[in-house]
Amino acid sequence: MARDLKVSVIGGGSTYTPELVEGFIENQPELPVRQLALMDIDEARLEILAALARRMVQAAGADIAIETTTDQKKAIDGSDFVVSQIRVGGMAARILDEAIPPRFGVVGQETTGPGGFAKALRTIPVTLRIAQDIQSSAPGAFLLNFTNPAGLITEALSRYSPVQSIGLCNLPIGMEMRLSQRLGVDRSRLRLDWVGLNHLNWTRRVFLDGEDVWDRVFAGEVQEARRAEGDGWGFPPDLLEALGMIPCGYLNYYYNHDRMLAKQKAAPHSRGEEVRKIEDQLMEMYRNPELREKPKLLEKRGGAYYSKAAVSLISAIANDKDEVHIVNTRNRGAIPDLPDDVVVEVPSRIGRAGARTLKTDPLPPEIRGLVQAVKAYEELTVVAGAEGDRRRALQALQAHPLVPSFDAAQGLLDELLAAHRAHLPQFFAGGSGG
Ligand code: G6P
Repeated sequence: MARDLKVSVIGGGSTYTPELVEGFIENQPELPVRQLALMDIDEARLEILAALARRMVQAAGADIAIETTTDQKKAIDGSDFVVSQIRVGGMAARILDEAIPPRFGVVGQETTGPGGFAKALRTIPVTLRIAQDIQSSAPGAFLLNFTNPAGLITEALSRYSPVQSIGLCNLPIGMEMRLSQRLGVDRSRLRLDWVGLNHLNWTRRVFLDGEDVWDRVFAGEVQEARRAEGDGWGFPPDLLEALGMIPCGYLNYYYNHDRMLAKQKAAPHSRGEEVRKIEDQLMEMYRNPELREKPKLLEKRGGAYYSKAAVSLISAIANDKDEVHIVNTRNRGAIPDLPDDVVVEVPSRIGRAGARTLKTDPLPPEIRGLVQAVKAYEELTVVAGAEGDRRRALQALQAHPLVPSFDAAQGLLDELLAAHRAHLPQFFAGGSGG
């Protein structure tokens, strides 16, 4: 069993924090987190979240000391694991990320396309400072990144920092839960051939206790699509059959771009505006001194199973489990159609030494081009974000498959940089590119 651990959470004032606290409480014997340091720049939110976390710990009779600080270095000092769940610029910035791209004929989304690009530019320098603080105050600690766009942020860490980092998303565990429920089996018995990048991935095969059950799973998926045709995030059955794989929901922004854009334009509120309302209600609930558990309302956020994924990943490292998890980490030959040193999202062995990708089959041509194009856009975005390089930023947008023209790329870049100027010092301070 792992020794007593310290975990620090950067962005501890997030409404998702109770999710994580619940995970640590439930896994106490296996994962003895004794110190949980919550750090946030918003002290008022931080204190509300910390008070709730303490009530949850007390109600459960768990042995976890909750600390709070606005000093990042202090939070990180001596940590075994550092979790990043930050939102640079807050929900207001997300709302702009969603609003600006449609003016240029592109869907406005938190992680996909120009919205995700702007979020990455804001987040990369802040994340690299977290990594620097780990180097000086907690050498050897793991940085687990949940901050979106998770693939891009992990790519930046992999290129610009020696700190051990892993990017995690809740989509893989969401798919595992969905398919295991459908098959009526425990999730631990399933193995997915999941391939691609964060929010740009496909499930190509499913194994139950090592046996290939793909035909059954895929037929069920097509059947479900037929039942739900035209509904929300589902794909049309014809698309699934043409592809022969299960795409993640975010691929709607590519395969059904125009439909998604029209839907977005017709909607009375953006997702960011909805989330802001949910967050206000959540904060109101969190303030209640009688509340001692994660409220049901949190399920209205997209991060389902977030704590399960996070805690089991931390446990796999701390307990050197050598277990397979689907994470964002350096390719190292796993996807032969991409460079070895770029970050991909694939099944990987997880233990004390971190993540080791498992080799996968080459990308078939029907998805190869899209993965390579988006990865190239990501490589350019990461350089732009870390170095404040305006030319690279323009190249990134131009390379993105959803950006229709050079004019659009230029217009988008100008507007996004101007809108987020306060959070993009790398582009404006010292006149490096602004
Ligand atoms: C999904 C994604 C997450 C994302 C979330 C958005 O779960 O995998 O990366 O954070 O949706 O949810 P929200 O409630 O913020 O729209």
